[in-house]
Amino acid sequence: MGRIAVKHFGMVVACLLTLAACSEDPTNVDWLHYGNTHSEQRFSTLDQVNSKNIDRLGLAWLQEIPGARTLAVTPLAADGVLYYTTDHALSVYAVDGATGEVLWTYDQVSEAPDTLRIHMGVNRGVAYENGKVFAGLTDGRLVALDAKTGDEVWSVRTFDLDSSRYISGAPRVFAGKVIIGHGGGDLATRGYVSTYDTQTGELLWRFYTVPGNPADGFENDAMAMAAETWTGEWWKYGGGGTVWNGITFDPEFNRVYLGTGNSNPYSPAIRSPDGGDNLFLCSIVALDADTGEYIWHYQVNPREAWDFKATMDMILADIEIDGRMRKVLMQAPTNGFFYVLDRETGKLISAEKWGGRVNWAERIDLETGRPVEKPNIRYEDGEPVHMWPGTFGAHNYQPMSYNPITGLVYIPHLEAGMIMGTVTPEAYASDPIRTGYKHVAQTGATFGGLLYDSENGGKGSLVAYDPVTQTERWRHVTDSFWNGGTLTTAGNLTFYGTALGEFAAYNATTGEKLWSFDAGLGIISAPMTYGIDGTQYISLLVGYGGSAGSGIPLLKHGWKFGLQPRRLLTFKLDGQETLPPTPPPDFTVNPVLVEGFEPDAIKVNQGITLYHTICSICHGGMLAAESVAPDLRESALSANYDSFAAVLLEGLLASRGMPLFDDLSAEDVESLYHFVRYGAMVEGGAEIEIDMSKCTFCGIAN
Ligand code: HEC
Repeated sequence: MGRIAVKHFGMVVACLLTLAACSEDPTNVDWLHYGNTHSEQRFSTLDQVNSKNIDRLGLAWLQEIPGARTLAVTPLAADGVLYYTTDHALSVYAVDGATGEVLWTYDQVSEAPDTLRIHMGVNRGVAYENGKVFAGLTDGRLVALDAKTGDEVWSVRTFDLDSSRYISGAPRVFAGKVIIGHGGGDLATRGYVSTYDTQTGELLWRFYTVPGNPADGFENDAMAMAAETWTGEWWKYGGGGTVWNGITFDPEFNRVYLGTGNSNPYSPAIRSPDGGDNLFLCSIVALDADTGEYIWHYQVNPREAWDFKATMDMILADIEIDGRMRKVLMQAPTNGFFYVLDRETGKLISAEKWGGRVNWAERIDLETGRPVEKPNIRYEDGEPVHMWPGTFGAHNYQPMSYNPITGLVYIPHLEAGMIMGTVTPEAYASDPIRTGYKHVAQTGATFGGLLYDSENGGKGSLVAYDPVTQTERWRHVTDSFWNGGTLTTAGNLTFYGTALGEFAAYNATTGEKLWSFDAGLGIISAPMTYGIDGTQYISLLVGYGGSAGSGIPLLKHGWKFGLQPRRLLTFKLDGQETLPPTPPPDFTVNPVLVEGFEPDAIKVNQGITLYHTICSICHGGMLAAESVAPDLRESALSANYDSFAAVLLEGLLASRGMPLFDDLSAEDVESLYHFVRYGAMVEGGAEIEIDMSKCTFCGIAN
């Protein structure tokens, strides 16, 4: 067997195929970008920790992160310092990579306390360039910080304070520019990305992903072209197509690739009644990195209707396919197919179902690049449909990785379907909840609950996938659904953490589980690795949360709000640190009861609907909370009407992530209060019958 050279953006490393390892001295090797290099492969050439000595891997140090909840972040390592964000990116940490000592923190309070309500507090991290750290804060600020001190160098607003947009993704840097998108596609916003000068914060270019009102003129030819694929008065609904996660810079072609999100509203019958593909929803769009000019696009789901998203990370690689070296872009969007594109032209090379049940399309036609959809899968033609995958997707934002030595992609797979239906345009237009409050999700669809049973779904897995043959190589099924992302290394290892708190290393070639560690709390982040002074370290943030806050039973593991500490764990060979004791999973609910209180059935009913429209994403369906916010049935503060109202109307806890709801009427607050009291009483054993048939959002809770 010969030697192959693995090109690793800037450094060429000699790898012995026989050993399946590249020997690189782990002296001062950084992890500078979200996916390590611009290619976002999440592959490291470091092999000091490898499949032969992994049993010696131990905890080197840990850092406690007080006040944090959801940690979906991949830290960066630059000059031996780790940088990461917490929940709303309102805190940025700099930590010594060898010792875990906190060097500085940057702490902010949201400037838009009412828009805290529109997302789950997820943030995926920072970008780094030449002594500056860039973070996108939830409230829309993009800040540049001095990497040595944490001092703010500049700060810009990427959207207005009253916008229903938010930032959850990591910015990316390339050639003196920093780019950021936003979320809020479900909230009637129009998606865009903005690119700034890393030195000055000056806006260099902005690219919208869906067309606006033709009467205002189109920003560019791409928008004029996209407008041809919409009908009706789509601009009144925002459109969606937000770029809330995947952005990949391609140094070879000097391009950025955007992964765009779902439509708004979901039902095409409302937003684009007379047909059309609705570009650039659910697409991969290539832009010139200097000018933001459109180059090509590939639409994953034409006329998207099911909350499918192409926002997942995109990996760039050079791969031999049918005897030819191809420059590819790989993505596993939520819709359950794995796509390999020629990234020079945007042409589809292959796309296959992978991982699990996919029922909405037969296949992807390689000639047209379009899916061959199954009959009656578009719910707007009639009855609600059973969609596989459902809204969580077969793969979500938890990153996949690609190992050029094994040639495999390691993907965190999710399996759950969902019942989806539509609402009529008339009902949509007059829905009092949708029209009556600020920042309310406007999906134009109904959710009838998640689909899974003992034979189908409800599980997550780590899948090793061959992108050339589009076949699965190996898989580990976990008992939990909403798990972490993956890391793969030249040590022939793949790392993966689960919602049950297991952090494990697998033989990247065979899939054999080689090592595991109980992190004491669920994991939803991806690990990374770096080297300092000849030692290789592997780091992982542990902080279960995000969507788990919705309290969907599938996502509940007893990680109770405020109970299990959030931590940054760092491992090395022969690490001797031990994890301090962590409270075990706790499913108990200790309801607070108000003596003599009698819930009013009408108010409870109104409260249920309102609660499941604006509270349940954090406090849990039917008040069953997990991780990100307290269980209101246990809240002593909520037992008192005045303090309950003050938290909502005055934003007393906004600095801690509890949104301001100053648009609620006294009647609304009262109905929420009655629902919370009712929930506590039922939990305490009271038998009270309430009709829930009119609650449109309650279904997602089961
Ligand atoms: C974006 C997430 C989010 C949403 C949406 C949300 N909350 Fe909260 N809520 C929180 C968090 C986080 C806390 C805990 C703050 C802290 O650490 O003190 C909290 C705390 C509270 C408390 C105080 C509980 C206590 O005992 O300290 C009340 C009451 C409350 N929320 C009610 C509501 C109601 C009612 C709604 C809907 C109208 C709602 N929240 C929506 C995140 C949220």
